[in-house]
Amino acid sequence: MNILVINGPNLNLLGIRETEIYGTTTLAELMIWLETSQEGIKHKFKFYQSNHEGEIIDIIHDERLWANGIIINPGAFTHYSYAIRDAISSIAIPTIEVHLSDILNREKFREKSVISEVCLEQVSGKGKNSYLIGLTKLLNHINGK
Ligand code: DQA
Repeated sequence: MNILVINGPNLNLLGIRETEIYGTTTLAELMIWLETSQEGIKHKFKFYQSNHEGEIIDIIHDERLWANGIIINPGAFTHYSYAIRDAISSIAIPTIEVHLSDILNREKFREKSVISEVCLEQVSGKGKNSYLIGLTKLLNHINGK
């Protein structure tokens, strides 16, 4: 399968950003870990990170013919970007929303995701494992399991 992984704003600073919340693994390390996992090695990946809403929308549009599934951590856009939500619902590609931290048990504004309704599922609070769990859920869905 072709799996598109999109990381939103500030996730480029993983490893140095609020390490007590997000851990010390860098984004590059996390993506390599996912790609080389037992499940990951069976699939093709494209990894993107952007701090810009429009750029994330362009990536979704541009990769829509390539991707069989999408894993997205929209960062803070999770909580207010109807434009990213619309981009996901404009393409008929199964998408999983992932978060490193437990967004339901942090500040009030993080509880709401405007993205989750257009995603298969939200995986939150499992650190880097959120991505691996997300990948497994995505593949199970694509494979009709
Ligand atoms: C995050 C949670 C968001 O609320 C936050 O804005 C992020 C990271 C996470 O992975 O836990 O940037 O998406």
